[in-house]
Amino acid sequence: MSSETRKIVVTSALPYANGPIHIGHMVEYIQTDIWVRFQKLQGNECIYVCADDAHGTPIMLRAQAEGITPEELINRVKIEHETDFADFHVGFDNYHSTHSEENRYFSTYIYEKIKAAGHIATRTISQSYDPKAEMFLPDRFIKGECPNCGAADQYGDNCEVCGATYDPTELKNPRSVVTGETPIEKDSEQYFFKLGDYADMLKEWTRAGHIQKEIANKMDEWLEEGLRDWDISRNAPYWGFEIPDAPGKYFYVWMDAPIGYLASFKNWCSKTGHNFDDYWAKDSKAELYHFIGKDIARFHTLFFPAMLHGAGFRKPTAVYCHGFLTVDGQKMSKSRGTFIKARTFLQHLNPEYLRYYFAAKLGAGVEDIDLNLEDFSARVNSDLVGKVVNIASRCAGFIKKKFDGKLSSSLSSHDELNQKFITASQSIANDYEKREFSKAMREIMALADLTNEYIDEQEPWVRIKDESLQQDVQDTCTVGINCFRQLIILLKPVLPALAKQAETFLNVNDLQWADLPNNLLDHEINKFKPLMTRVEKDKIDAMIEASKEALKEEPKVTQQAADPTIEAIADEISFEDFAKLDLRIARIVEAKAVEKADKLLQLTLDIGNQQRNVFAGIKSAYSPQDLEGKLTVMVANLAPRKMRFGLSEGMVLAAGPGGKELFILNPDEGAKPGMRVK
Ligand code: 2FM
Ligand code: ZN
Repeated sequence: MSSETRKIVVTSALPYANGPIHIGHMVEYIQTDIWVRFQKLQGNECIYVCADDAHGTPIMLRAQAEGITPEELINRVKIEHETDFADFHVGFDNYHSTHSEENRYFSTYIYEKIKAAGHIATRTISQSYDPKAEMFLPDRFIKGECPNCGAADQYGDNCEVCGATYDPTELKNPRSVVTGETPIEKDSEQYFFKLGDYADMLKEWTRAGHIQKEIANKMDEWLEEGLRDWDISRNAPYWGFEIPDAPGKYFYVWMDAPIGYLASFKNWCSKTGHNFDDYWAKDSKAELYHFIGKDIARFHTLFFPAMLHGAGFRKPTAVYCHGFLTVDGQKMSKSRGTFIKARTFLQHLNPEYLRYYFAAKLGAGVEDIDLNLEDFSARVNSDLVGKVVNIASRCAGFIKKKFDGKLSSSLSSHDELNQKFITASQSIANDYEKREFSKAMREIMALADLTNEYIDEQEPWVRIKDESLQQDVQDTCTVGINCFRQLIILLKPVLPALAKQAETFLNVNDLQWADLPNNLLDHEINKFKPLMTRVEKDKIDAMIEASKEALKEEPKVTQQAADPTIEAIADEISFEDFAKLDLRIARIVEAKAVEKADKLLQLTLDIGNQQRNVFAGIKSAYSPQDLEGKLTVMVANLAPRKMRFGLSEGMVLAAGPGGKELFILNPDEGAKPGMRVK
């Protein structure tokens, strides 16, 4: 394409560090990764950075619910995210965390610059507060009845039944998701970014071709209404960076999240010796692209550019929004088994099936895309297995068996087809560049069709029987193999793993876009092994079943309802199920720490006529000596469980969010060990 090497920085949105990656997320990472791989294949310098979005109230509460520190949670989740991405062949150049020194540095730096220029205001405002949890509540942590339609159990920001948006204070019968208390209104001083100061710059910027039309129109609505000051502070307790000179106040997670792009890039610079300013300084010649979902456009096309501008950094070259994923025409659903985690997909299916399918559906717009599971298998089977891989399999056998694995040394009149590829590759490159992947896939598959038609016409399996036509057959198969090689180059951004296997078969090194015209002639290829198998329906069914199962297995910890993405209440059980539980009063005769177990205490429980050995995860809340002699309640008929530290013969009942706030049930001293609890 272009003769000059471009310097490009690319990001995808930073996933929250409190939950797994699912296939809805994968639309964006696959879209971005294809674009990045295309740029690299073209010979451009393209650096793809990302990070976990590791701050905010949901992460703080989730860690509490699990009885671990936020650091422990975000470290664990980061590893899970990185593993999922790597297994989907998403090739980040750097993956970092917003809870990093680089991010603290840039968040502080940007804040101080903006403040020094007079764009930060402080004001006292009234917000919902949970008096029991002693914390201010984000909108999503307040539930109640919709002020518009009266629907029960709606979040504090919008109603999922009638779609109304409102203030949490307008909810009827509001309650805190954290404790169930009725929130009160409480005053506190907050820090605001005066976005309106940047209105002129943003009006111009959003209309200067940096964002899609649909998004610019949407942002116009905000710009026309007048930009309100943006509250970038949160009160303690909060999990994030404390604001300099404002003890007890923290940067709101959405303030430091996009700054995470700079932080991850800086971290990459430290590892590779590159110069940060070459890419992020105001006069940088590098290109900068952010790939995001349309739901977070406002943060990336108004707030973030204003922050960058205010602090003297360059602004993005473009922000590219995509739509959401539906499965079989509907929103992903846990109960239908279509809320499919990346890991569950990987356990059943080849990730390149999904990469190809998304590529075949994605355009440059913001429309939602649908994963229709029948269409998914049909398309992968027909295009990749039936068309592309089939070309290699049709030609390789003759070359290997009849010509010692050698391709013809010249092609004379046979190479028209290869020429067609060269011509088509220009428009395919344009499509990739413009994120019109579905168009690119259609053009590539049309080339695969032409190749198969050519082989059909040449009938090498007939001609091979005629001694005088041997050269013809070798030439036909040489054309076929070279077309296959070109198809692999064209598909390499989408199918990097398949491309790697194909390179081994073709006996070539790391193919580049520029290799398209360089036919392999007089070249020995390797034995053909099937490069991709068909999608099997039973694997899809198993994946859907596993997604339903995963839902049942989700840990049900008190307070999980605080995290809006987690179901709070376990599946209903019958009275008969409940009656099976044999709950007994137990006296804790002995309690001791378990070596090498962070959370466990080993308890010896007396239930009247026998003693039980039980391991309980309550070490964060109790010292052994505080427990000895106390009464508690245990499940006495739980099947014994072999644990790493010994046999656990039952379970004690405890309640609370976790950490220090974990309370084993503590009956009156009037109770006697062995008494049944009903
Ligand atoms: O919506 C989200 O999932 C956010 N964690 C995205 C953040 S993108 C960037 F701004 F950090
Ligand atoms: Zn409503």
